[in-house]
Amino acid sequence: MKNIILIGFMGVGKGSIAREIVKQSEYVALDTDDIIESMENRTVKEIFEQEGEDYFRALEKKVSQWLDKSVKNTLISTGGGFYKQKNLKDIGVVVFLSSPFEKILQRINEHPNAEKKLKKRPLLSDLQKAQRLYDDRLPEYLKVADIIIDVADKSAEESAKEILKKVKKYA
Ligand code: S3P
Repeated sequence: MKNIILIGFMGVGKGSIAREIVKQSEYVALDTDDIIESMENRTVKEIFEQEGEDYFRALEKKVSQWLDKSVKNTLISTGGGFYKQKNLKDIGVVVFLSSPFEKILQRINEHPNAEKKLKKRPLLSDLQKAQRLYDDRLPEYLKVADIIIDVADKSAEESAKEILKKVKKYA
């Protein structure tokens, strides 16, 4: 099994889809934000507030180097900015979860923990800025992706099934 790397904008459903892939396959999952939080023993939000974004990006780089060297047969979900790492394709098959910005916002707002979801993401605090970030990143996500999955009108279960089917070709 090759590593699968899920990339995509904040709130698109990387975590939910990762959990579904785990249910439907032999894959064990890890999440780059979770690794960083445990390395630092503080939340991503606290790291942004206390150290700034550059510090967080340096941690993402360190994690990407570790993934490349040491992680095999794993489903890796990433923070929305992790796609910038230069060695992404060396780590595994890159799967971009695609959805229009409006649908992402709708998905977050419909979640029972919507407030918490917004609060923990510093880059979503200003929606106009977040929209701009989305517009800037979209072509970058598309460029780096091996596989593009349109998740906007699918359940996590359906998206997971589609990903597992498409990734087989890369084994
Ligand atoms: C970020 C996305 C976040 C987290 C950090 C920065 C980004 O992860 O890594 O707040 O640059 O898009 P999620 O995509 O899981 O929200």
